[in-house]
Amino acid sequence: MKMGGQSKNLTEEQRKSVISKVRQRRNQSPRRKVKVSTHKEQKKADFSELPGFKDMQTQKVFADFIEIENPFFRTHESRASAETTIGGNTVINFASYDYLGLNGHPAVQIAAKEAIDRYGISASASRIVGGERPIHRTLENKVAEIYGTEDAVVFVSGHATNVSTIGQIMQPDDLIIHDAFIHNSILMGIKLSGANQKSFRHNDIDNLELLLASQTDRTGQVLVVVEGIYSMDGDYPDLPRILALKKKYNFWLMVDEAHALGVLGKTGKGLAEHFEIDPSLVDIWMGTFSKTLAGCGGYIAGSRDLTDYIKFSASGFVYSVGMPPPIASSVCRAIEIMLDQPDRVQRLQANGKYFVDAVKKAGFDTGASEGYAVVPIMIGDSIKATVLASKLLGNGVNVLPIIYPAVSESAARLRFFISSEHTKEHLESAIERLQLASQLYEENPISVENLAKLLL
Ligand SMILES: Cc1ncc(COP(=O)(O)O)c(C=O)c1O
Repeated sequence: MKMGGQSKNLTEEQRKSVISKVRQRRNQSPRRKVKVSTHKEQKKADFSELPGFKDMQTQKVFADFIEIENPFFRTHESRASAETTIGGNTVINFASYDYLGLNGHPAVQIAAKEAIDRYGISASASRIVGGERPIHRTLENKVAEIYGTEDAVVFVSGHATNVSTIGQIMQPDDLIIHDAFIHNSILMGIKLSGANQKSFRHNDIDNLELLLASQTDRTGQVLVVVEGIYSMDGDYPDLPRILALKKKYNFWLMVDEAHALGVLGKTGKGLAEHFEIDPSLVDIWMGTFSKTLAGCGGYIAGSRDLTDYIKFSASGFVYSVGMPPPIASSVCRAIEIMLDQPDRVQRLQANGKYFVDAVKKAGFDTGASEGYAVVPIMIGDSIKATVLASKLLGNGVNVLPIIYPAVSESAARLRFFISSEHTKEHLESAIERLQLASQLYEENPISVENLAKLLL
């Protein structure tokens, strides 16, 4: 595709104007009010009037116009690890969370197979009414041991863990204060709880204190929620400072360790181990099994009062099937390997540091990333990020663009997940290919003006 002109980041206004041009071209009308049909014959449901539907279409139209394949829903034809197979080609993979390379570990696979032989695939019921298997409690004990808490409870979904827990323990009179970059599952939990909500600037503990100081007349409970490692940015919060504020302002503290377990600390026990802090100072540890532990589902670790209350009341636990026994079993084995083989954690940490330093040296912006498993390369332009990801795949590197509306347009990026299984050659050739793709793009950028010309 030949297109000259200056590359330019899309501002929100420019983006809106391009979208409206796309809509004109496609002759799409704005959202109509849905009327109750008076026809005898029932009309077919029209989901295209849903809010956000046209934005979704617009993204597809963008991709068509710039003649690249949609980067989302790429199919992997093999187990995705440091390498994977896409479209019949072996490529270096930076789009999977298997941080410690446990997804293909023979002992983890055997644990799943043994559980299938013993219990079958499904728990076949909610745990509260017939779905309980011994492996569920074994897993909960292992999670509680990691954090030194009284107990833990596991859910079938990491996302549902946050939604159901926050939705259940917080009430409309309460206040939830969270980091501005907090994960969607926490935001959905807040919505469900009906609690008041305030966010502080990302990782800005002074700003958190300002919010706390303004709440001294409040009667309800205050919950502060942060992540162990931020999933889009790869940085982490200053836990010691937050704990000092907790002493002063007496709030509940919840840490989502989805991307921190297996990644931070000498043995992968997460943020508390990283800071060498007693984990019992945090009230609610949350995490997922889908990242480091190569399974799926989520956990809450804390006091027995908390875990008992969740088990008897959180809707995503009570009204949802128990975790499939093969997953519970394989996650147990993955935890054992993580703890027995800290060299995996050390390899991951060394790879992350090496990558972030080398990428910076090559002239790219890695944002706030500390080089622990998640490394964004800031592009600042959704179209450019998408084109670069497409060029990289063509050149043997699978990495996904994170674009508007998942992040603001100026924060569009390529997000690299690093694993203990990546070799130096993987990391170096990814950077070389990224440099090449960037150069090619700069020689032939897709400017807003050119895009608009194409659209009209
Ligand atoms: C910070 C964070 N919390 C929760 C979740 C939800 O976890 P899961 O994908 O295991 O449902 C994610 C998922 O990516 C996450 O990044």
